[in-house]
Amino acid sequence: MKMLLTGCNGQVGWELARCLQPLGDVVALGRAELDLANAGAIAACVASQRPDVIVNAAAYTAVDKAESESELTFRINAEAPAALGQAAKACDALLLHYSTDYVFDGTLAGAYTEGDATAPCSVYGRSKLAGEQAVTASGCRHLVLRTQWVFGSHGGNFLRTILRLAREREQLRIVADQFGAPTAARLIADVTAQILGRQAGGLPVEDGVYHLAASGRTTWHEYASFVVERARACPALGQGLKVREIVPIATADYPLPAERPANSLFDCGKLERAFGLRMPKWQRGVELCVAELAAR
Ligand SMILES: NC(=O)c1ccc[n+]([C@@H]2O[C@H](COP(=O)([O-])OP(=O)(O)OC[C@H]3O[C@@H](n4cnc5c(N)ncnc54)[C@H](OP(=O)(O)O)[C@@H]3O)[C@@H](O)[C@H]2O)c1
Repeated sequence: MKMLLTGCNGQVGWELARCLQPLGDVVALGRAELDLANAGAIAACVASQRPDVIVNAAAYTAVDKAESESELTFRINAEAPAALGQAAKACDALLLHYSTDYVFDGTLAGAYTEGDATAPCSVYGRSKLAGEQAVTASGCRHLVLRTQWVFGSHGGNFLRTILRLAREREQLRIVADQFGAPTAARLIADVTAQILGRQAGGLPVEDGVYHLAASGRTTWHEYASFVVERARACPALGQGLKVREIVPIATADYPLPAERPANSLFDCGKLERAFGLRMPKWQRGVELCVAELAAR
């Protein structure tokens, strides 16, 4: 199986570059090798590589900057997936694409299923929804994995920001009224590899949108407190911590350009049933990531 991976230097792309290796040949491309802002380059690249699978881990992910860079955000998150879908259709490749909890407005009382109405409330969310729709409309074989609150030992994310701030400040003020499940980039890559392993083995893989997140629920405040607690338990990280207090605050007290969904919780039952998987508790991925960072 030949796999073309975009965004190989991002959080998820970096984990994918490792996890996909046992499944076949991986052509891992960063921005320097394939700039998704260039639709012509996408078509030419796919036509010359003729992959069996395209995994699109590249995206414009600067959620707040996107509010003032709408055109570029849509080019990367909507037009590029459309071009990838058309190119995948032309060579009968499967396109595996990632999307986000930001396609929802976060007003639902429970966990979101794939059938719930989308209502993005930011430029980033609208661009990612347009990307999902473009992939579906292209007519290629496709899977869209929506995920959320991504972290990993590679790249920029909330977990690593908290570890840095905990070394610099005595007090942290963290939002406590948004709910979600921190999801490890490694988990996303592992699940992707499981799905593509089925595909390689000729087992059925049904097209469509799937929710992929760790199980359980938390707030940014509780998550930050857990990260610091785990860091304290590692001598390599604990000794340098300055933080004494992590204060819960409201979203309204920490205004940002892009509106965030207050509830990001996903029902991952469809993914679990389709691929025989069980999503681990979010704490497990955080523990592993903190341990990995401590070992560096
Ligand atoms: N991060 C989250 O919390 C989160 C939550 C929900 C869903 N998602 C989705 O999950 C997927 C993976 O996200 P991630 O967290 O791994 O993001 P990330 O760490 O920001 O990585 C995104 C990658 O895309 C690349 N990229 C950006 N513009 C590009 C362009 N014009 N051409 C080629 N590559 C380009 C970046 O390249 P450079 O390294 O050169 O900048 C980066 O390596 C995305 O679809 C994202 O929307 C993420």
